[in-house]
Amino acid sequence: MRLAKYLARAGVASRRRAEKLITAGRVCVNGTVTDRPQYRVQDSDTVTVDDRPVKGFEEKAHFLLHKPPGYISTVDDTHHRPTVMDLVKETGKRLYPVGRLDADTSGVLLMTNDGELANLLTHPRYGVRKVYLARVAGIPDKKALEQLRAGVDIEGKKTAPAGVKIARVFAGDNEALLELTLIEGRKRQVKKMCGAVNHPVIRLHRQEFAGLRAGRLPEGSYRRLTEEEVRELYRRVES
Ligand code: URA
Repeated sequence: MRLAKYLARAGVASRRRAEKLITAGRVCVNGTVTDRPQYRVQDSDTVTVDDRPVKGFEEKAHFLLHKPPGYISTVDDTHHRPTVMDLVKETGKRLYPVGRLDADTSGVLLMTNDGELANLLTHPRYGVRKVYLARVAGIPDKKALEQLRAGVDIEGKKTAPAGVKIARVFAGDNEALLELTLIEGRKRQVKKMCGAVNHPVIRLHRQEFAGLRAGRLPEGSYRRLTEEEVRELYRRVES
């Protein structure tokens, strides 16, 4: 973003006045006076006006990560285990995951510094849709599928109605692949739901979050969301 716009967005002055501050030599980038309003500010730049740092402004960024198993969904881990932050190499941005996937779960995970959107997407009120593929032990019968759809008791609270279907049967292994569509996001919900009907999860993958899929993005890679995708996310949570 250009320097004048950056200062305006940071609330230092209007765009016109910011241009004047710059041409007057009152603005430094990394300690050097920069008199070009069109200078493109980098994430790593330190900008000062009259020697006072400009802070509290960070451009919003939204990424879709195809999380592989083996990474935990936190910003810091006190035990120094690999985290999703090790996969998203965006220096200077204070990103964090939107919600969580268990360490052994793979699939779509949004990473952003957009606190407003992250709160909305994880708020139960909006019932954002998540689609999971769960490989489970045994082949659930009609009754088990109905129970999962209607809601099962987890820690004293029934789960909300869910879409559940068998996507594949691995008859030789006596296992099945279930597709579950949830509008809640309780901790370890899919594993607890499947466990409650005696079909423990062997492997879990999140195929979709709020309409976003990994598509051809390889496991361990990430991409920036397009402006249209970000607009669509906001549309989903407009009340
Ligand atoms: N449900 C789970 O059990 N684990 C996840 O990682 C996500 C949903």
